[in-house]
Amino acid sequence: MGFHRILVRLTWVGVISSVMAATDTQFPSALPDCPDRCGDLQIPYPFGLTEGCYLNGTNGTTEFLIACENSSGKPETKTGDFLVTNISVQEGQIEIMMYSRIDCYNSTGTRLPHEPQRMLTNPIFTISHTKNKLVSVGCDSFAYVKGFRNDKLIYSSCISDCESKSDVVNGSCSGNGCCQTDIPEGLKNFTVHARSLNNHQYVWDFNRCGYAFIIREDKFNFSSAYLTTPRKYKTLPVVFDWTIGSEKCDLARNKSNYICGGNSTCVDPKYGSGYRCECIKGYRGNPYLDHGCQDIDECKVKDNNNCTSKQKCVNKPGSYDCLCNEGYYMAEPERVCVPDRSAGKSSPAIYLAVGIGTILGVLFLISITLVLCKVIKKRSEIKLKKKFFKKNGGLLLERQLSSNENNVQNTKLFNSKELEKATDNFSKSRILGKGGYGTVFKGMLSDGRIVAIKKCNTVHKGNLKQFINEIVILSQIFHRNVVKLIGCCLEREIPLLVYEFIPNGTLFQYLHEENEDFPLTWDMRLKIATEIAGALFYLHSAAASPIYHRDIKSTNILLDEKYRAKVADFGTSKLVTIDQTHVTTLVQGTFGYLDPEYFQTSQFTEKSDVYSFGVVLVELLTGEKPVSSTRSEEGRSLSAYFIHSMKENHLFDILDDRVKKESDKEEVIIVANLAKRCLHLNGKKRPTMREVVFELQGIRKASDDQQNYEELQYARHEEIEASGVSFTSTQSCFEIASSSSSIVLP
Ligand SMILES: *[C@@H]1O[C@H](CO)[C@@H](O)[C@H](O)[C@H]1NC(C)=O
Ligand SMILES: *[C@@H]1O[C@H](CO)[C@@H](O)[C@H](O)[C@H]1NC(C)=O
Ligand SMILES: *[C@@H]1O[C@H](CO)[C@@H](O)[C@H](O)[C@H]1NC(C)=O
Ligand SMILES: *[C@@H]1O[C@H](CO)[C@@H](O)[C@H](O)[C@H]1NC(C)=O
Ligand SMILES: *[C@@H]1O[C@H](CO)[C@@H](O)[C@H](O)[C@H]1NC(C)=O
Ligand SMILES: *[C@@H]1O[C@H](CO)[C@@H](O)[C@H](O)[C@H]1NC(C)=O
Ligand SMILES: *[C@@H]1O[C@H](CO)[C@@H](O)[C@H](O)[C@H]1NC(C)=O
Ligand SMILES: *[C@@H]1O[C@H](CO)[C@@H](O)[C@H](O)[C@H]1NC(C)=O
Ligand SMILES: *[C@@H]1O[C@H](CO)[C@@H](O)[C@H](O)[C@H]1NC(C)=O
Ligand SMILES: *[C@@H]1O[C@H](CO)[C@@H](O)[C@H](O)[C@H]1NC(C)=O
Ligand SMILES: *[C@@H]1O[C@H](CO)[C@@H](O)[C@H](O)[C@H]1NC(C)=O
Repeated sequence: MGFHRILVRLTWVGVISSVMAATDTQFPSALPDCPDRCGDLQIPYPFGLTEGCYLNGTNGTTEFLIACENSSGKPETKTGDFLVTNISVQEGQIEIMMYSRIDCYNSTGTRLPHEPQRMLTNPIFTISHTKNKLVSVGCDSFAYVKGFRNDKLIYSSCISDCESKSDVVNGSCSGNGCCQTDIPEGLKNFTVHARSLNNHQYVWDFNRCGYAFIIREDKFNFSSAYLTTPRKYKTLPVVFDWTIGSEKCDLARNKSNYICGGNSTCVDPKYGSGYRCECIKGYRGNPYLDHGCQDIDECKVKDNNNCTSKQKCVNKPGSYDCLCNEGYYMAEPERVCVPDRSAGKSSPAIYLAVGIGTILGVLFLISITLVLCKVIKKRSEIKLKKKFFKKNGGLLLERQLSSNENNVQNTKLFNSKELEKATDNFSKSRILGKGGYGTVFKGMLSDGRIVAIKKCNTVHKGNLKQFINEIVILSQIFHRNVVKLIGCCLEREIPLLVYEFIPNGTLFQYLHEENEDFPLTWDMRLKIATEIAGALFYLHSAAASPIYHRDIKSTNILLDEKYRAKVADFGTSKLVTIDQTHVTTLVQGTFGYLDPEYFQTSQFTEKSDVYSFGVVLVELLTGEKPVSSTRSEEGRSLSAYFIHSMKENHLFDILDDRVKKESDKEEVIIVANLAKRCLHLNGKKRPTMREVVFELQGIRKASDDQQNYEELQYARHEEIEASGVSFTSTQSCFEIASSSSSIVLP
């Protein structure tokens, strides 16, 4: 119902503003003797309703023909099958109602039949990349748009994810139950797709469908009600750019059919063919008509001119003049009106006014000083209190959080008493793990939540940024397979980070240490690989700006109580602006996982994460450590050893015993080939994380032996409760010098 209602509301906004746009009737907008509106909507030339009234396409085609139908008792404006709700000639845009995509599953994870895509193939339309967003709604969903820019296929995508309905925030579409991303520039013939990574199996009780759609950015406001809404096939407003003709301005201008009228200019689109017309500054109207652009009388509306009350506004073609009133003259070069001295001396009243003004001014200054003194005193008290907070980067963090207006509410600033209570004053019995970086404690918050609290040994001033970096990045990530940062405490000499508690240790432990409790079956390995890939895909396509993890390795992959993989440790991660394709930095990472290309060029790209992921895939396949001195010299590094074995056709000799026994040969070959591509020395030849997700998804069978697996989980869980085994939550602090994130050259 909620979905339905919001759509109705959106349509209403459209109707209301088009009525407003339509009241601007002072300029002709259609050809002479042609109808210029359908219902309330103005239809400006080159669009038209009848033969002779619209611009003929290059070869007599009818791209600009608009149908005005009245079958429902109310006039409807249409292009092809699609409803048109606004046409603007000056901006060269048209608003069209497009269908959303729906992707639903039944309780056993089978995809239900979905509506076919309806494509808008009119070649004059390019989807506007400035006005629209691609949106995915759902708790296990991703949306992608695929289309052509000058015959080149391009994509954009985003993932929305959440674990429970209480995770989502109304009005916030930043990954949690809802995500949005930019549309690539110059997209034509596009299709939108809604898909799911886990077929909604973990969230089916409250979210059975995912939705993918493109919508005018300013017309969408996410509500949690969409998650529980039954399926509906609805239309939403999308803005398109349009052009005329098939040539750019340069060529078009010399043609007999060039139509930009007087006082207008020709504008080229950045991509694609054709051109459009725009009235020059100071003119408005329809630039596609002969005398369509008409002078704006700036003097009629106060907001349109800069003349002061001492000035008289005089309109002229394309602009206006501000002339001085009588008794004033224009002082050059500032062009302000000053009293004409010759017209008369200043009166005594002016001296009196100046005198009173001065006295008032002095009084005002004195009171300001008093107030300032008080403020400064108070400030210094607060300063003392916040000494640690400041020293620990609290201000930096606050600035960061306020510059990313979303999700501030998700990161809690704990006070130090709270955390002392949660950990029995950091009692030794609560230690989960220890390392060169510091200590991780298990704690219980006053609301009963179990958390992992990371206490670093020291934070050097230089690492402050990295520390704040981790907080800011983690606070923006919501994904089932990413460790959640709950908050931090900056009031202590050494700051603390509070994470969700992940009980079952690291993937590294299961792969490389004796572990009889929980066997890593082939299906589990595939599942873990798919989950890590999904999390990385999510990070790389993150709503606001891509996030590169920069330290993917099996010790940074934790397993939760259901043995779901969770990616941890964002100490070295970086947010990247949309246009950036790489970041240049001091090389950081872990030897054995480090992209050789990054090592050589110091340029970290999304493909560097893909490389590290490839190494983890090989670990899953072979059960071998990424660096091992027991292998021969040239096989020290696992990736080299693996690539070599693949070349020699010895893949099946190096597989982990379990994998060899349980797996389907074909599946192993697909995964091995995928790993090989991820490890390609040339980053450009590696697949993107999206492609990796698609391929792994293709392998994982829908059936997945779900029940069997859940029983195993249960048994394992019981055991842990009984034995009180200790676990590690996060591996390293944010120190460059910590053992886990430094490079050891061979
Ligand atoms: C229609 O287009 C005009 C001109 O761009 C704009 O001012 C108006 O807001 C638009 N109306 C709607 C419903 O978008
Ligand atoms: C478009 O072509 C038709 C005939 O093909 C002609 O009657 C009509 O006037 C043309 N329209 C314009 C705007 O030139
Ligand atoms: C129009 O037709 C000509 C010749 O038939 C062709 O070369 C050209 O590509 C066509 N233009 C468009 C825009 O379809
Ligand atoms: C549309 O149809 C209704 C009744 O079917 C009629 O009353 C109305 O005048 C029509 N409007 C237009 C613009 O033709
Ligand atoms: C889900 O759909 C599949 C395939 O249509 C069917 O075999 C299965 O019984 C359905 N499950 C439920 C609970 O309806
Ligand atoms: C878009 O689709 C139309 C109609 O199907 C086709 O003529 C055109 O070549 C397509 N354009 C691109 C760039 O694929
Ligand atoms: C979106 O909805 C939320 C809650 O329903 C509301 O607080 C917020 O103001 C809305 N934002 C916009 C831009 O309409
Ligand atoms: C969001 O708004 C819907 C109504 O639009 C309401 O039912 C729901 O409870 C709200 N959710 C939250 C988390 O505020
Ligand atoms: C257009 O015509 C002008 C004058 O006729 C000429 O100077 C110019 O080179 C032509 N431009 C093109 C692109 O043909
Ligand atoms: C351009 O504008 C000026 C001033 O409004 C007008 O005199 C002139 O005729 C216009 N030119 C054309 C070609 O319409
Ligand atoms: C008013 O003046 C400012 C500064 O000179 C200028 O940027 C602005 O465009 C002017 N506004 C109008 C309506 O002329």
